[in-house]
Amino acid sequence: MPSNPDPLPSPIVSHVLPESSRVRQVVIGTGIIVVCGALIIALALLRQLPGFAGEFFGKIAGMLSTPLIMEGAIGLLGFLALLTFNHIRRLREGDDFVTLDVPETDFPLGDGAAASGGSGMFIVLEGIDGTGKSTHVARLAEWFRNQGREAVTSFEPTRGPWGNKLRESASSGRLSPDEELELFLKDRREHVEQLIRPSLEAGKVVILDRYYFSTMAYQGARGIDIHDIRARNEAFAPKPDHLFILDLDVDTALARIGARGDTANEFEKREALQKCREIFLSLTAEPFAHLVDASQSLDAVQEQIRSCLGAIKAE
Ligand code: TYD
Repeated sequence: MPSNPDPLPSPIVSHVLPESSRVRQVVIGTGIIVVCGALIIALALLRQLPGFAGEFFGKIAGMLSTPLIMEGAIGLLGFLALLTFNHIRRLREGDDFVTLDVPETDFPLGDGAAASGGSGMFIVLEGIDGTGKSTHVARLAEWFRNQGREAVTSFEPTRGPWGNKLRESASSGRLSPDEELELFLKDRREHVEQLIRPSLEAGKVVILDRYYFSTMAYQGARGIDIHDIRARNEAFAPKPDHLFILDLDVDTALARIGARGDTANEFEKREALQKCREIFLSLTAEPFAHLVDASQSLDAVQEQIRSCLGAIKAE
């Protein structure tokens, strides 16, 4: 059971903008100034046109040249110029990153953060076998720890009695879908009571490799109603603040399982995995879910996850 940590004092989430975003901001700022300036010049030139066109643009220019509008436009241009120059100055001074503090409501926060009054965070990584979940869980936890956060990682099925029974069944002969579901529910109930909830209440970041979305996918693929599975789980299991669905096509996933020297077990047959993938993909509409393309390199996938969390570490 985890011990009590120091919860973070504030539920504020920091967004750290990467280099590319800063450059983009400068480009956009400069672009706005150039476009505004070009419009003013174009209007001045267009009123010189002969005939109807000149009259038309002359009228518009006349309407816009009231002192109030002119002063407003000049003020706006000045303000935009200041913003742009400020960004350019930051870039040249080599500021590591731009940090914006935004209220927690900018992120859809689930039961995880609520359990700790905002300081804990509950993150779940899901996806079919071979998508690299366990590696990304470990790397994400390391990243949080480098920021001074206490991070707890875990996985399901657990190494508890129910989880072990399930693992055995994967190689020794599959249980019926209902028996399997009951065991996953028992295993998860214990996991929630003994590790997940206490860690969240203590303000920690909890990162899981699989959770009840796997039950929806894998036991759903065996024919059990996924809404029913979800309802039975959410009766006791807190929703995550962030669910990352690591998506990969089944052939690549099976090739990866083979490459690491494993053979696909009873849970991992091609057709079943295809159904699981579809169920996982159907979950991406959830407000707390993020779809991650797991076909890329480990670094690229990890970066997708971190940037979804609103912060890319300045290297
Ligand atoms: P897995 O994460 O692959 O564990 P290991 O690293 O020990 O191989 O999980 C084992 C299998 O359990 C996996 O194929 C998916 C399955 N599973 C379910 O069918 N339902 C669930 O609720 C969970 C959590 C896992």
